[in-house]
Amino acid sequence: EKGEYRHFMLKEIYEQPRVIQATTEGRITQTRVLEQALGTKAGNLLENVRHVQIIACGTSYHAGMVARYWIEDLAGVPCSVEVASEFRYRKHVIQQDTLFLCISQSGETADTLAALRQAKKAGFRAAMAICNVPGSSLVRESDLVIMTQAGPEIGVASTKAFTTQLTALLIFTLALARHNGLDEEREAEIVQAIRMVPGQVEQMLALDGKIAEMSQSFMDKHHSLFLGRGAMFPVALEGALKLKEISYIHAEAYPAGELKHGPLALVDSEMPVVTVAPNNDLLEKLKSNLEEVRARGGQLFVFADQAAGVRGEEGLNVLEVPSVHAITAPIVYTVPLQLLSYHVAVLKGTDVDQPRNLAKSVTVE
Ligand code: F6R
Repeated sequence: EKGEYRHFMLKEIYEQPRVIQATTEGRITQTRVLEQALGTKAGNLLENVRHVQIIACGTSYHAGMVARYWIEDLAGVPCSVEVASEFRYRKHVIQQDTLFLCISQSGETADTLAALRQAKKAGFRAAMAICNVPGSSLVRESDLVIMTQAGPEIGVASTKAFTTQLTALLIFTLALARHNGLDEEREAEIVQAIRMVPGQVEQMLALDGKIAEMSQSFMDKHHSLFLGRGAMFPVALEGALKLKEISYIHAEAYPAGELKHGPLALVDSEMPVVTVAPNNDLLEKLKSNLEEVRARGGQLFVFADQAAGVRGEEGLNVLEVPSVHAITAPIVYTVPLQLLSYHVAVLKGTDVDQPRNLAKSVTVE
């Protein structure tokens, strides 16, 4: 039931602190990822993983894209990510000792299941699933499973499934990284950062009123750009997907460094450009990308770390957000983008929970 909320989507956005916390439950201590986090078979299976192949669709694919940055950064293991509908219809080379990782909220997405079954024939070390539905086909057909504890997701646009997938993926990354020389201190630092995420998501939710105000600038727009760098690029992709799905505004995401390779030509005063700017080592580069947009009269909407020194001025709307750890930033920064899409859709009067032409679970091709 929606309870006090106007839509399931809003309710599910607000459930995130609790379900993210639930997804960490029994899997981390104050400083460590627990061995049993991935089940009893995990130790052996993770030992010799030399490559991770992630397969998913839609929002779950974006979670996989974030995970690639984490896996290569923290575990030093090469990672490939592909949408299931592409993977299954091309000839592919499965490297030795590959962990095949499917991410799916429903566990019933036809393309994801088909990719898994096909890859099984080709042979790989183990099949792992990150999934939200116990007993789903994906869970039954995988060797290792991390369940996300998002609870039922009713809104067609995925919100809490995504942030719990990211939480599970980060815990998995730390478990894998431990077999690949991640030192205890760094593990403790990141585990502590994970423990802070629910509270930080609460702080993001507290910005709801300001984000609702910001959403008015998008109501009459037909196009928008989302920019991010590094692991924040998939967050930009996810932000753009949310806006497309529920408000029907055309939204495109770009890695900020690609701007001048084409999309900058689109920028004028009618083009809102949304950016997430956590205080990470790419901040200075991102800031110069923002300047490129502003110099062309683009309207910028930036969610920036309060310590990032991005100040509002003509053409630059800044919503300052609390400081978060660079590794967990993709989880926390997803939330204001969800709220932005939600409010734009509400203003436009679309069917937020049941957008046109879409189904919650894509069980046919
Ligand atoms: C977007 C959305 C879809 C799903 C995709 C995969 O908001 O919900 O893009 O993420 O259809 O679904 P699952 O995760 O169930 O495999």
